[in-house]
Amino acid sequence: MKTIAAYKALPIDHPESLLDIDLPIPNPKEHDLLIKVRAVSVNPADYRVRKRITEGSTATILGWDASGVVEKVGALVTEYKSGDKVFYAGDLNRPGCNSEYQLVDARVVGRKPKTIDHAHTAAMPLTSLTAWEAIFERLQLPKAGKPVDQSLLIIGGAGGVGSMAIQLAQFVPGLTVIATASHSESKHWVKDLGAHYIIDHSKDISKQLTVLGYEYVDTILCLNSPDEHWNAICNITAPMGKICGIVPFLKAPDINLLLHKSASFIWEMMFTRTMFQTADITTQRNILNAISEMVDAGSLRSTLKQIIGQINADNLKKAHAQLESNRTIGKLVLEGFNSRSINH
Ligand SMILES: NC(=O)c1ccc[n+]([C@@H]2O[C@H](COP(=O)([O-])OP(=O)(O)OC[C@H]3O[C@@H](n4cnc5c(N)ncnc54)[C@H](OP(=O)(O)O)[C@@H]3O)[C@@H](O)[C@H]2O)c1
Repeated sequence: MKTIAAYKALPIDHPESLLDIDLPIPNPKEHDLLIKVRAVSVNPADYRVRKRITEGSTATILGWDASGVVEKVGALVTEYKSGDKVFYAGDLNRPGCNSEYQLVDARVVGRKPKTIDHAHTAAMPLTSLTAWEAIFERLQLPKAGKPVDQSLLIIGGAGGVGSMAIQLAQFVPGLTVIATASHSESKHWVKDLGAHYIIDHSKDISKQLTVLGYEYVDTILCLNSPDEHWNAICNITAPMGKICGIVPFLKAPDINLLLHKSASFIWEMMFTRTMFQTADITTQRNILNAISEMVDAGSLRSTLKQIIGQINADNLKKAHAQLESNRTIGKLVLEGFNSRSINH
């Protein structure tokens, strides 16, 4: 099977940073699906893992965002059969989706939305799962019920996760969504996704909130550069406020800044469930199925911004380079392998 692999932690413009190789098709274990990958998206996780590869390793297959078709199922799989169209992020500790075929645990795989194609679908799983878990599980904002009359500040609104978070936050009744963006195109993008207010993360966040009439915000989702924003976050958090972070700090933050406000900081890590095989691992399948239904109902849209081309080393290098600029809007997608046979 055609596969794109990395063997060394090399800068993305190095000719051997990613290589086209051929590998045998793997066989599904008990809970696995063997999936024929049709489209993939790229995430910062891809270049973070690429940069950590130790020399002398075997082929590392990156990519944790895909849409495809089930080819074979493992002995314990009851939810899916050959020919089903699915989407998933998968497991950071297993080979990724930059390969014609991939093994994925069926318990974290959802049914592909019927109303969009594989490319638009591949843009969604990892960021939807992250945004969903952050908003509804970590920040505990409700999806329905009485209006909450609260505010949510999303720092890094135009990126992959932010683009899904802005949309999912609109399912919380009564929530005011303030998103940050720093360029005219990214500001336009977050406005179009439904943010109520837009502020610029390269300028004083506190002052801009005051202009909007907010001394404090009730909840904050920090999706980018937490070290840079930590002091501002602590200043603008409401008493008893909740902050969710998804990006590691480069330097340990001063958590004491939150004490007087009895405010809490909580992590969201999308791969926790697969990494620790938690008892509620199937929650990710349920979330993806809910996302799929929302797309088909027209209440959520794909955040695909650009299709780079076919899935090969050259195009993946272009996608990594663009993503490493930290200026990507929405999602970058690659589609099809120019392969010997695509049966579905
Ligand atoms: N813990 C988890 O489970 C998890 C899951 C997914 C992602 N992540 C991490 O979360 C981060 C975001 O992921 P992503 O996929 O959304 O990345 P992305 O798509 O590459 O994010 C790019 C966006 O970040 C914004 N940005 C750049 N510098 C910023 C700054 N200093 N402050 C605020 N925003 C800034 C840019 O907006 P402008 O162009 O408008 O400046 C751009 O639109 C990455 O570090 C990723 O590794 C973690």
